[in-house]
Order: sequence, then structure tokens, then C-alpha cells
Amino acid sequence: MKNIVILISGGGSNMAAIVRAAQQGQWAQRHGAQVAAVISNKADAKGLQFAQENGIATAVLDHKGFGSREDFDAALMQRIDQYQPALVVLAGFMRILTPGFVAHYAGQLLNIHPSLLPAFPGLHTHQRALDAGCKFAGCTVHEVTQELDAGPILEQAVVPVLPDDTAETLAARVLTQEHIIYPRAVLNFIKNKS
Ligand code: GAR
Repeated sequence: MKNIVILISGGGSNMAAIVRAAQQGQWAQRHGAQVAAVISNKADAKGLQFAQENGIATAVLDHKGFGSREDFDAALMQRIDQYQPALVVLAGFMRILTPGFVAHYAGQLLNIHPSLLPAFPGLHTHQRALDAGCKFAGCTVHEVTQELDAGPILEQAVVPVLPDDTAETLAARVLTQEHIIYPRAVLNFIKNKS
């Protein structure tokens, strides 16, 4: 079985979309893949409850309990590697990863970013798109490499920016597209992995 480990920090709606797609698409039976665990760096991440209700192992590893980014990432790697993952999925995991972490999962680490990369890497993407007067916005699934939000692009989706949009309304429109492209990208990635 190809194990998928998903990392979250908050709502976990992308994680939930992937879990639902795996259930509805029978990934275990048809593709030999399963979401094996959901790990959060925040104990109050709402997504943890969804994962538990769906029979998925969960763990919390609070970064505040570690003296350095390296120490936290080392502990996180240990936790993830218990599941011998074929794929590690960042789904709203709001941490900058150390070079050691990224190297450890080279070729098996995906992220979703709420902009049309390479535009607007980093934070506050929706407000920045509005401030720049963009007529379109969107989201990107990409492989994670050492440079922040810059790895090879696997999927993108585009939405219009409407005249009365706020960062919140734009984020909500983009998020509905994230829920479509992330499960698809994860499945394609798993299928192409022998
Ligand atoms: C999503 O919009 C995701 O693209 C973004 O956080 C949100 C998480 O929502 N990720 C980043 O900004 C990463 N830099 P979710 O927890 O409901 O999936």
C-alpha cells in the first residue's frame, strides 16, 4: 500500500477533499493508495477531528516545544516516517521547511499554494493579487524544492477576480478550485509512482 501522509495547520479543507476523493474513488482498492495519517503542528487544527472521524491516524507535533526549526523538522520527519510514506502532502501547513526536511522527501513532497505561481509566492496572496489589480487569480499544486513556492508545477486552476472582491471572497473562490485540483494532482502523482 502506498501511504500518503498529510500535514495541516488549520481548517484542513484540502486534506478533507483528498480524503473524500480517496474514499469515493476507492484509491485503496483501485490504486493501492491510502491516506495513512494526518499530522498537525497545532493542537486546535480543525481538520484533526475530520481525520479522526474518518478513521485516519492523527498526531500533533507543536513546533513551540522545540528549540530550533531543525529540531522540530527532525522530530516531524521521525513521526512521518513511521508511516513509510510514498507521498507527503502539505495542505495548509504553515511552516517554512528546513533544507534537510525538503531533501529527505525529495521527489515525494507536494504543496498547494493559493496563487498562480510564480506570481505571489509567500503569504497574503489574495490581498496582493487585489492590490496588483489582477483580473484573474488561482491556485497551484507543485512539487516542493528548496526554493519557497517554486518547485515544478503539476496543476493550476484559474478564477476571475470580481470588482467587489475582498481577500476573503477571493480566497473562498480559489479554495473551491483547490479542492478540485489537489486530489487530482495527488492521485496522478501516486499513479505515476511505481
Ligand atoms: C489553502 O488556501 C492553501 O492553499 C493555503 O492555506 C489554505 C489552507 O486551507 N496554503 C498556503 O498559504 C501555503 N503557503 P485548508 O487548511 O482549509 O486546506
